[in-house]
Parts: sequence; C-alpha cells; structure tokens
Amino acid sequence: MSGVKIAPSILAADHADLKGEIGRVEEAGADMIHVDVTDGHFAPNISLGPDTVRAIRKVTRLPLDIHLMITNPEKFYEPFLSAGGDIITVHAEAAGRSLLHKLSKEIHQKDKKLGLALKPSTPIPSWLRSETNPFDVVLVLSVNPGFPGQAFMPSVLPKVRKVAKLADSGELDVEVDGGVDQENASIIVEAGATVLVAGASIFRKGDVKSALQNMRAVTQRTRREVPA
Ligand code: DX5
Ligand code: ZN
Repeated sequence: MSGVKIAPSILAADHADLKGEIGRVEEAGADMIHVDVTDGHFAPNISLGPDTVRAIRKVTRLPLDIHLMITNPEKFYEPFLSAGGDIITVHAEAAGRSLLHKLSKEIHQKDKKLGLALKPSTPIPSWLRSETNPFDVVLVLSVNPGFPGQAFMPSVLPKVRKVAKLADSGELDVEVDGGVDQENASIIVEAGATVLVAGASIFRKGDVKSALQNMRAVTQRTRREVPA
C-alpha cells in the first residue's frame, strides 16, 4: 500500500494570499491542491472559476484536484482542464452515464484524471460496481457541499469501506472530503481512504506547516496499524 495523500482545500485558505498559502502547504509536503468549485446551484455558495485555477497553476508544481460541485458539469469541465486542472471530479448527482463516458474518453486522452464524487446521502451507483471502472478517483463527500469548516459525518464510513473494496483490484483512489482533521484522520484511513482532503484543519489552525505535518504523522502511524 502506497502512502495516503493529503490534499489541502484552498476553499478554507486566505483567498487574498493564495500564492502564499499554496507555497506553505507545498513546502510542508502536501501531495496535491484541492480546488472546490461551487456554483450557487448544486451547492449554496459561489467559490471560484477557471481564471483562479489558471493563476494558481503558475505558482505550484503540485497536481490540481478540481472538485466540480456544479450543475451542468458538461459546460464547464473543459475550461478547468485547459486552465491546468489535473484531476477533474464531477458529481454522480449532476452527470449522467453517457456524459461520464464522454468525459472519461476526453480527459484520459489528455493524460488527466477523472473522479466521481458522491454526496453524503448518495449511495454507490450499482453500475460503478459492475462495469469496467472509468474513474481514477471516487470522492466520498463527508459534509454537505458548499462550505469549509463543517463537522465530518461518520455515517459515510461504511461507504468509504465499500469504495475501498472496489478499489482493491485496481488503481482507484478513495478520496474523503469534508471535516477531515488530525483527530478523525486515523479512522478515515482505517476505513480505506487513500486521499484526505482537508481545509479548515490545515488553513485555519494557525500554523499551516505543523497542521499538515501533524496530519501526515497520523496517516503514517495509521497505515502501520492497518493489516496488509
Ligand atoms: C465541501 C468541500 C470540501 C470542504 C473542505 O463543500 O468539498 O472540500 O470544504 O473543507 P473542510 O476540510 O474544512 O471541511
Ligand atoms: Zn472538495
């Protein structure tokens, strides 16, 4: 089992200093930058658009993990790809299967990755279990979409375990997003998460560097405790 990746969510960062905030998490050893895109429809908040992604692409070498919490993802995935997104994750509640197949083709042709996100109340679609999986990532959202700083919903843990079982046979990453902190990270990794998204627990704890390193220490300790 390779290491658990940590993806700080810039939704919780100081937006007047994104360059500084991203620089600090990069220096502290973050594995990717999680970019939450909300549209005021799918989620009750408006965050940022492709221009911001284009700007942050220039200030980091880390992969940009774009989480599209938007309706009509078919209209907007391309601008986020062209702006420098490396992983494009769309919601199962907003994208039909034909769109997902189209995205898989287009995104993989560009050597980028495709993710499927599930809101807390959304079960794993049955077709995800039975078909050849076109996704690189399944993102289990552990808060309702929209805002950083909400409490983790432990009710999603059985779903994380099920997705982790699907991932057993392949290269699928299991990403858990929402309310992840230095205390609950271990149970989430034990359930099978391979990517932890963390906003408030990294950017709103005072010292970004030690917040990230503490979370890293928890994931490394937990990994050692998980039986092979
Ligand atoms: C929820 C977002 C999350 C979340 C991360 O709308 O997808 O990425 O805001 O922030 P924290 O870790 O503070 O919940
Ligand atoms: Zn997110």
